[in-house]
Amino acid sequence: MNKTQRTKHRWVDGAIVYQAYPRSFYDSNADGIGDIPGVTAKLNYLKTLGVNAIWLSPFYPSPMADFGYDVADYCGVDPIFGSLADMDKLLKQAHKRNIKIMVDLVPNHTSDEHTWFHQSRQSRENPYADWYIWRDPKGHDKNGNPTPPNNWLAMFDGESAWEWEPARQQFYLHTFDVGQPDLNWTNSEVREGVKDAMRFWLDKGIDGFRVDAVPFMAKEPKLKDEPKNPDWKPGWHGYDRLKHVNNQGWPHLFDYLSEMAAVLKEPKYAAHDRFMVTEAYPSWHNKISDYMAYYKGMDPEVAAPFNFEGIGLPWQASEWHDFLKAFHKSLDDFSPLCVASYAFGNHDQSRLVTRIGESAARSAAVLLMTLPGMAFIYNGDELGMKNGIIPPDMVQDPGAVSSEGRDPERTPMQWTPGKNAGFSKADKTWLPIADNYKTHNVRSESWNRQSFLNLYKKLGKLRNTSATLKHGDFKIIPTKHKDVLGYTRSYDKVTHTVLVNFSDKPATAKLTDKPGRFVLSSFASSKPTVIDSTVKLAAHEAVIYEL
Ligand code: NOJ
Repeated sequence: MNKTQRTKHRWVDGAIVYQAYPRSFYDSNADGIGDIPGVTAKLNYLKTLGVNAIWLSPFYPSPMADFGYDVADYCGVDPIFGSLADMDKLLKQAHKRNIKIMVDLVPNHTSDEHTWFHQSRQSRENPYADWYIWRDPKGHDKNGNPTPPNNWLAMFDGESAWEWEPARQQFYLHTFDVGQPDLNWTNSEVREGVKDAMRFWLDKGIDGFRVDAVPFMAKEPKLKDEPKNPDWKPGWHGYDRLKHVNNQGWPHLFDYLSEMAAVLKEPKYAAHDRFMVTEAYPSWHNKISDYMAYYKGMDPEVAAPFNFEGIGLPWQASEWHDFLKAFHKSLDDFSPLCVASYAFGNHDQSRLVTRIGESAARSAAVLLMTLPGMAFIYNGDELGMKNGIIPPDMVQDPGAVSSEGRDPERTPMQWTPGKNAGFSKADKTWLPIADNYKTHNVRSESWNRQSFLNLYKKLGKLRNTSATLKHGDFKIIPTKHKDVLGYTRSYDKVTHTVLVNFSDKPATAKLTDKPGRFVLSSFASSKPTVIDSTVKLAAHEAVIYEL
C-alpha cells in the first residue's frame, strides 16, 4: 500500500507546522518578552500563511536557566508568558481557526527548581530519591574533594556533567545546564510522572507534542566512561573532547518513547489524531538508519522523528538527491504510516538565510513546502530573517560559552519597520532586534510581491489546496544536470513536478516528459522558458509545475 492508497488521512500528512518561540514572537504586555497572549493575537497572521499547527516552545514555569527548557512545573505557565487561562484561550482561538497546537515536552530533565528535584536532593531516602541520576563519587582528589563518578561532560560549558550535592553526599547528572538535572527514566515512577503531564495537556485539548532531546533519556546502564574523541583540537568546543556514545541513544530509549506514544492512543485521546515529533539529531555516519530506528522503534501512526537534513545537509543537488531517494524509499518500505517531518531552522540553529543566503533560502522554501509530510517553519524564516548581532552585554544563552551561542537566531520577530520591529512597546527587548528589520518585516513584506512572505503565502496556499502536495507519492526524476534536483508528487491523476537549481548559475534541466502548467517560481517575477521537456532555470531558482 502506498500513500495514495491509504484511505485514512491524518492532519499531520502534509501539515504546515509553525514553530513559535514565545519569548520572541510577540510581546502583548510591553515587558520586552513575548508571551502566550502574543501568540493568540497573531493567529490571523498565521492563518494567512496557511499554518495548520503551531509548535509552541516551552512556556512552563521556569527559572529560565535555558529559557524554559528547564521546566519547574510541567503543568503550569510561567507568569512571564501568561497563565493557564491564557493557554486555554489560545487553544480555543487556534482551534476555532482550525489550527492545532503542539506543546514542547521536555522529558530528559527538569529544572533544579522542580518540586521533584527539591525533594530528591534532600536525602537518599525521600519518595523522590531515585527520580534523578545520583551517584557516589568515584574517589577524592588530593585536597579531599569528591571526584565525579565518570568523565561525562555537560553540553553547554563542556565541563563535568556532574554536580555535587552536599545534603546527599552524592553527585547528580546534568547533560545540559547545571540547573537541568537529568531524570532517571529507568524508574517507572518517573515515566508515569511525565506521562501524567502529557495527559494534563491532552485533557486541555492540545493536539500533540514536540519532544525534546530524546536520545539522552536512555544512557548506558552502568554509565561507563566515554571514549576520547581523537579528532578533537584546541579551539573546538570542550564537549567535543569525548565521543558521546554512552550518555545517549541506548536501545531502551524506544521502550520509553513507545510508552509515551501509547498515551496518545489511549481511548480518551485516540479519536483526535494526536501526534508527537521527537528531537534527535542523527549521527553523520548512517543518517537513514538513525531516522529509521525511530520510525521502527515508535508507533508511526502517532510518532515521527524530526528530519534535520534541512539543517545538516550541504546545499547541493547531489546530496539532496541521494538522501531523498534513500530516505523516502526506506519510509515507504517500512510502513505507509510513516510521516516525514522536515525542518530547515529552529531556535538552536543559525538562521537559514544566514547559512545559505537569500536566493537559496527561497528555493529551500519551495523544497520544504513541496516535500511529503510535515513542513516545520521556524518563526521569522518566512520573512527571510537573518541572525541578529548580539552585543556582549546582551548575551543570554547558557550555550554561549566558546561560541556565540543561540541568541542570534532567537532575536524578536519582525512585524513592522517601526520601534522594536513592532515586537514590543517596551524600551528594551530581551534580545536586540536584527538589523534587517526595516525591509524584512510582516508589514513591509505584505505589500511587496517579491518578498519572502509572499512566496511562503503562495506556497502555503498551494500546499493546503493541493491533495497532491498533501498526500501524493514522492519520486525523484532525472534532470540531466548535476545541480538540478527534480521530483514529482502524484495523487489521483494530478502530478506536480518540482525542480530546484542548487547552483548560483543558470541551469537547463532536461526532463523525460513535459512538466505541464507553470505554477510558481521561487522568484516572483520569473517564469522559466520551457521548450518541450527542457526547462531553463535562473541561478538558485526553484519551480513547480502541474500536470
Ligand atoms: C533542545 C532544545 O531545542 C534546546 O533549546 C535546549 O537547550 C536543549 N534541548 C535542552 O533542553
